[in-house]
Amino acid sequence: MSKLTSTLEYAYSSSSFFDIPREKLFPTSITQIQGLFITELLSKCRPQNIIELGGGFGISCLWIENCCHWPHHHTVVESDRKSCQLLSTVKKELNLKSIKIVHDSTQHYLATKLASEPTLADVFFIDACELFDGLMVDLHFCNKLLAINGLIILRNSWNPSIRKAVSFVLENLPYELVPQTNDLLTKHSLKSIFIRDAALKRVGSLSCDFLILKKTSADLRPWNHFSAF
Ligand SMILES: C[S@@+](CC[C@H](N)C(=O)[O-])C[C@H]1O[C@@H](n2cnc3c(N)ncnc32)[C@H](O)[C@@H]1O
Repeated sequence: MSKLTSTLEYAYSSSSFFDIPREKLFPTSITQIQGLFITELLSKCRPQNIIELGGGFGISCLWIENCCHWPHHHTVVESDRKSCQLLSTVKKELNLKSIKIVHDSTQHYLATKLASEPTLADVFFIDACELFDGLMVDLHFCNKLLAINGLIILRNSWNPSIRKAVSFVLENLPYELVPQTNDLLTKHSLKSIFIRDAALKRVGSLSCDFLILKKTSADLRPWNHFSAF
């Protein structure tokens, strides 16, 4: 078992993790089932360049890193939080050299990256601002910084603001929703929740955990395009 795997096991089984009590760590951080889901997904698409927005306590960051050592794995965390210290400590202790921790707001980070270093990412994992307007700003920049066929993985699809933002993307930008086949996640299906979002209503099976968007082409909209969402 790798050091990273045993660290993750410890995070899920102990009453505290690097001084953070369990009840603070969860449900903020992703569950084991969610971690396994991400592992399965990323192991299939093997991205070279992954950007994680909203590092939190770094649990999802460790899962992402555990799939493989990606050449470029950036994780953006707000500064002045105890959670940032935890991620830095784990990175140092486990010698995880490929993770680059950026202390910034996701919106500022993405805008700055687009202006100064617009290399394209293959995957964005978003678990940050869930307010509709904040997420829309993130998605605006992610779209500009994502390669064609790249993925945007959004956590907490139970949250209406996330579904509404995804509905905008599906109706207005060149994206399709990736069907989810993982039984463990679709078991907690959104089918039982009343979904008003037009684009999502058409989809048969959605999990309450993640929505996954795949970019299918460049953005070819005329300047006055608008489709209700
Ligand atoms: C749910 S937690 C992420 C948990 C993480 N995925 C894990 O498994 O440990 C969300 C994080 O996003 C951060 N966040 C919220 N809005 C943000 C923003 N605009 N910029 C950067 N981080 C933000 C919060 O501070 C919090 O640490």
